[in-house]
Amino acid sequence: MSHFETDAIRLNASKSNQREHSAPLYLTSSFTFDSAEEARAMFAEEIPGNIYSRYANPNSTELIEKVCAAEDTEDGIATASGMAAMFGSMAALLQQGDHILASRSLFGSTHQLLTRVFPKWGIRSTYGDISDYKNWDKLIQPNTKMLFIETPSNPGLEIIDLEWAGQFAAAHNLILVVDNCFATPYLQQPAKWGAHIVTHSATKFIDGQGRVLGGLILGKKELIQEVQFFSRHTGPSISPFNAWILAKSMETLAVRMDRHCANALAVAEYFQENTDLDFVKYPFLKSHPQHDLAKKQMKLGGGIITLTLKGGIARAQRFIDQLQMISVTANLGDSRSIITHPASTTHSKLSEEERAKVGISDGLIRLSVGLEHQEDIIKDVERALEKSR
Ligand SMILES: Cc1ncc(COP(=O)(O)O)c(C=O)c1O
Repeated sequence: MSHFETDAIRLNASKSNQREHSAPLYLTSSFTFDSAEEARAMFAEEIPGNIYSRYANPNSTELIEKVCAAEDTEDGIATASGMAAMFGSMAALLQQGDHILASRSLFGSTHQLLTRVFPKWGIRSTYGDISDYKNWDKLIQPNTKMLFIETPSNPGLEIIDLEWAGQFAAAHNLILVVDNCFATPYLQQPAKWGAHIVTHSATKFIDGQGRVLGGLILGKKELIQEVQFFSRHTGPSISPFNAWILAKSMETLAVRMDRHCANALAVAEYFQENTDLDFVKYPFLKSHPQHDLAKKQMKLGGGIITLTLKGGIARAQRFIDQLQMISVTANLGDSRSIITHPASTTHSKLSEEERAKVGISDGLIRLSVGLEHQEDIIKDVERALEKSR
């Protein structure tokens, strides 16, 4: 294994007889066999090889190999979206009657999975508050099988101690699943702290240019075998085109994340000095309540900032409407800076009470800091703050 940056660039699909330098796009539903015997042996898994793109495709295999190297995980699958990965990680590894313990601060759709989808099949869950993690053993039930967490959380930027989570999962014999979407493997590698499964929405920083959807489930070989079986027969597979895009994006993840993080820190520091704000939250600001923990387990602070303006929701909306460059859209992790109002968009399906429990006030704004020049990002924000007073 080489360095992170080198593996992300040099782990490539094997060359075809055209001797291409950059991996080509394999737009093919199926792959041919040299003989009836070879077809039989591949289906029987006696010899390796591509059979059908719902199972595997050179583009998805290259993506998986690159992200496994980055995460330090043994194996994985790539899925059509991040939510297919969240769903698959639970559906493949749990059975009727199982119980999930999850951190309360989860992405809105993951919350819907736990509270609306899985209960239909007899899989129930309990939320633990991050501030109260010392008491989480009281939340364990005899049928608890999985610990599902997201750190930093979307959008609250709450940080969970991965070392603690690894030890807690081991002590209670739980499968630890970590949604590593906000940090990316460049900033933190949950498997090193004992996570059995790491999930991603590759749609975000892994793509990095807001082009395609994708997801990943990575982890220990014996668990991934279960996930592969589930995926082969239920079909959440990524398209070869999206896998090709994402495998190319992995080549620039390290340099992009360095810049996302430098820009986000500069913007967060600007906000910290500004009297228009009630608060600004960024993992690498000293004022973040878990700043020391963020420093312990993250290489840099990430590309996301949350803030609340004085003047509540009306001011937040005026501010968003006054931005000239920063995009108003629901994605994050793009080269373009993006502003989102979680209470009315990504987390609107949660009740007001549920949002309050995970720190999403009506005035909360999420800023995904892009790769534009940091002075231009700050200029846009500064102008909009003034105009929205
Ligand atoms: C933390 C987190 N997990 C999962 C997802 C879902 O990913 P996708 O939109 O690719 O399905 C998102 C999307 O915003 C997310 O932020």
